[in-house]
Amino acid sequence: VGITRRSLLVGGVAAAAAPLAAARLHQSGDARAATPPPPRVDSLPDALTRIWVGAPYWANRLADWRLDMGRIQCVATRENAGRTLAVLTRDLNGTNAPATITVRTGTLTSGSGFSGFLIGAGGGMLDYRAAALVQRASGQGGGMLCVYGSDGAVRFRDHTSETGQFGYTELAAASRSGPEPARTTAEDVLLSLEIVPLGAGRSRLVLTASRAADGTLLSTATRDVADTAITGGLALMSSSYPTASAAQFWFRELRAGGARVGVHPERALGPILGTLWSLNGSVFKLTAQLFPIASTEPQTVRLDTRPLGGTTWRARATASIKPGSAALFRVTGWDSTKAWEYRVVHASGTPAEYSYAGTVPADPVSVPELRVGVLNCTIHSFRPLDRASNGKATLPEEHDLGLYTPANLYFPYAELSKNLAAQQPHLIAALGDQFYEDRPTFKSTGVSPDLDFLYRYTLWLWAFRDLTRDRPTIVMTDDHDVLQGNLWGHSGAAAPGGDFNQGGYVLGGATVNLIQRVQCGHDPDPFDPTPVDRGIGVYYCSFRYGGVSFAVLEDRKFKTGDADGVDASGHPFPPSSLQLLGARQQAFLSSWASDAPGLPKVCFSQTLYGCLQTGPSGALLKDFDSNGYPPAARTAALRLLRQAKAIMVSGDQHLASTVRHGIDAATDGPVQMVAPAGGTSFQRWFERGALPNAQGTPNTGDVTDPFGNRMRVLAVANPNVTFARYRQGHATGQALGDRTLKRDGYGLLRVNRASSEFRLEAWGWNVDPLAPGSAPFAGWPVRVPFSAA
Ligand SMILES: [Fe+2]
Repeated sequence: VGITRRSLLVGGVAAAAAPLAAARLHQSGDARAATPPPPRVDSLPDALTRIWVGAPYWANRLADWRLDMGRIQCVATRENAGRTLAVLTRDLNGTNAPATITVRTGTLTSGSGFSGFLIGAGGGMLDYRAAALVQRASGQGGGMLCVYGSDGAVRFRDHTSETGQFGYTELAAASRSGPEPARTTAEDVLLSLEIVPLGAGRSRLVLTASRAADGTLLSTATRDVADTAITGGLALMSSSYPTASAAQFWFRELRAGGARVGVHPERALGPILGTLWSLNGSVFKLTAQLFPIASTEPQTVRLDTRPLGGTTWRARATASIKPGSAALFRVTGWDSTKAWEYRVVHASGTPAEYSYAGTVPADPVSVPELRVGVLNCTIHSFRPLDRASNGKATLPEEHDLGLYTPANLYFPYAELSKNLAAQQPHLIAALGDQFYEDRPTFKSTGVSPDLDFLYRYTLWLWAFRDLTRDRPTIVMTDDHDVLQGNLWGHSGAAAPGGDFNQGGYVLGGATVNLIQRVQCGHDPDPFDPTPVDRGIGVYYCSFRYGGVSFAVLEDRKFKTGDADGVDASGHPFPPSSLQLLGARQQAFLSSWASDAPGLPKVCFSQTLYGCLQTGPSGALLKDFDSNGYPPAARTAALRLLRQAKAIMVSGDQHLASTVRHGIDAATDGPVQMVAPAGGTSFQRWFERGALPNAQGTPNTGDVTDPFGNRMRVLAVANPNVTFARYRQGHATGQALGDRTLKRDGYGLLRVNRASSEFRLEAWGWNVDPLAPGSAPFAGWPVRVPFSAA
């Protein structure tokens, strides 16, 4: 049966096409077949079990998929509708050309549901990394499902509905036939999707399930579609349907071929995802981040180096992969006067050997201007991808977001990354909230918290790994990094009843340590590594880089108090009982003040040492999560920072600002910049109009916050709608998704030795700094002479 795609076209009628396609596939396993099967997409190992499926794939979520002895399994046991495994290395381009995609699939756990393909993820409008996140919730850009149901029938289903986000509504087939026996756990089915070009931007989908062993037809259906409906990312999907059931499905031997299939081997990801490193004098520290591999795979990573441009690698150290799938290196005796290339190598000398390389520049001790890029608060998506949500604008100036669109998916921050890279920063400071607990998916009690964390965190590193590969990065954790909305750390205490509003950590000590080790393990050595309560580690430290002395403070860990500042009986906590930095960090700051005299000093910490927020009417708001509280401890901390002559750089607030703090007078304290959020939801405003000693832009000048802290606002970047205007469209909350109405971006600190001054800048995420006339947000740069810090 010498069927060709051309004869399918000429034959034309759908009813004829389906069985012929099945016959062709039947023959494809046969040496005499006229058409060879399409090429394999993966070469997954057959003899191991692990959480990470393999380099061609991105799992939504990490915890919900597994590789088990050559079979890809969906193991989601709760909310197991619409779990996807994105195929990174293939997509469907927009050409009106043929394609064939096949996979073997079967039932792992019986129940009402389906397994099969998701095509057209992102509609061709998304960065491939963002398209890889298409999952449970249907919405704009969600693509189309081509799936095989537990009842034995193949069907096409919609994944773009904004109104029925979990309906997966069946799309009418032009034809459907076959015996359609119900699926069983004993099955091994070949599911094939043939895409036949019809011209004029339209194509025919021929979806066929047949018995893998002998090609016996089980079910087949056809549907004609516009090419635009199927252009974009490709994924496998395992889903319960129509209601919650235990259904889980497996896959193996994914194949894809034809001129419509885009082949992108360079998009393969892992087992090493990326690196973070720091350099402090002769101590070089690096974290190699992996995905969760099998316990039977090599459990170490080797670090090799060579002089920049050299030809011979030298092994420098070996590190074990620890919980969190991170291998931490600490190398002493590093020659920081020279530039080096590095590579981290896993499974060295085996067929699975993998290496990831970068460069370590010489410590730029005499560069005229040292630039620090400041990242924080990256929520990945505004609307969640696993819960129902609404992306409709409620103000005339607001835009509809869609779901799988560039407007809703801030991840992978490609424009922000490109623009920050164009500033050529020497150092990256990621100051907290690298991810959030309810985006892009909700925190789940149904999966390991370690894997839930790793799913969110690996998105961040995937987005920014090209920035962190070739320059040092300092990472700090804030409240959302430990999966809670606010944090009064109480030296590591557990939150009473899991309620963080009463102070303490929600997560157990081991998980907090895992999160800190993965994100901060490569930071310079802690000043005093003694853990706090429950064995939770600390990372506050100082280091030198580029001829600048830096300090890293942990604002939240030792802080006491809670969300309302009153005890259980309603009495305010006595001021003498309240602490912010705690005695240990105060002693550290005293020591740092006298260290490295003559060097410019920069202090990184999580948040603002004041409370800069107003409500819809412009009234000052009191936020106990700001470092305006507790005020006496805030002032004590600022005295120590003034003594050090340090400039302060922070994140957390989502409201970019730069202030001069007051201690005993209005403006006798240090200057602090809060960098813009990279991409976030919750908005804050500071709208006080004309203030004494205004700085030339609105809402600047002298203010006393509700805790009694004085400061002079030097610059502030309010959202592009006032809080009052926002309230007209949003009855409650402070969430805003439309980035045209927000001031998301990044911070840039220039330590300019030529002019002996700091220059603080807040930049918009989508501003090309090299374009003529481009500038930071109005009010910046703020210039602070070293002598006035
Ligand atoms: Fe945040």
